[in-house]
Amino acid sequence: MRAIANVHGQILPLEDVKISALDRGFLFGDSVYEVVRVYQGRPYLEEEHFQRLARSLEAIALGGVDLVRLRRRVHDTIAAGPFREAVLYVQITRGASMPRKHAFPKQAVPLELLWVEDYDDAPYEHLRRVGVGVVTYPDRRWHRCDIKSTNLLANVLANQAAHDAGCYEALLYLPDGTLTEASHSSFFWVKDGALGTTPSRDNILPGITRGLILGLAGRANVVVREGHLRRDDLRSVDELFLTGTTSEVLPVTHVDGQPVGSGRPGPITRRLQEVYAAKLREFLSASSY
Ligand code: PDD
Repeated sequence: MRAIANVHGQILPLEDVKISALDRGFLFGDSVYEVVRVYQGRPYLEEEHFQRLARSLEAIALGGVDLVRLRRRVHDTIAAGPFREAVLYVQITRGASMPRKHAFPKQAVPLELLWVEDYDDAPYEHLRRVGVGVVTYPDRRWHRCDIKSTNLLANVLANQAAHDAGCYEALLYLPDGTLTEASHSSFFWVKDGALGTTPSRDNILPGITRGLILGLAGRANVVVREGHLRRDDLRSVDELFLTGTTSEVLPVTHVDGQPVGSGRPGPITRRLQEVYAAKLREFLSASSY
């Protein structure tokens, strides 16, 4: 798999990138990131991802990053491949400074790292057809999950628990049983023909794919009811699915070993997969790029 990085405008193989041991992203998780899918050489929902990146940077008071220049670098790096089906990863840290101190350093220059790597969608294509199993797991994250920060230990532990159980994802729940989102995906449920999802004002990441699906639900003639689902309610939902940049719309057929609805991907999930695909085709056929 090829991967080409871009560090402050310098294009180089990803494996040759060297980052200081004093970098605050490494030492403190003092950094934010984005993951963008590149289809046919074109970053999808680029504007939305960069707007979210701007919000994340602002939320952690990380200034001095020229996002227009960063976007140019993204395009230069995709062209350098040239990449067709790929994933773009962007990470901005507060930079390196000595001595190690928690408070923001006065002098540090933000590290602007990105890379593009080839992407094979075949495994996901299969999972989108057959669906996946998930586990439920305590949400032990902090209270600013709206920021796409690289503080992902609680997400990593939750996802590992899912993998240990032979599952794809972990649905996270609060102490009162309210489900929030999954370790690296947003989640939706279908009950009595309506589509439900956690409100984005709650402590979740405002997923770009989640936003897209909410906007497309009308096209699929599906009513949306943002609200809360508890762990106990999982037994009574008709359908469940995850969304994410690379997973797109991924049916969930089992939770903690129990079938969701019929135990097969449901009809509304299928319809939303179709409108997602149609929207993507529209993007790819638009000539203005
Ligand atoms: N994960 N919720 C969480 C906690 C996430 O980390 C992600 C994305 C999502 C879905 O967001 P989007 O539709 O914008 O990809 C929801 C990325 C892809 C990752 O960490 O690799």
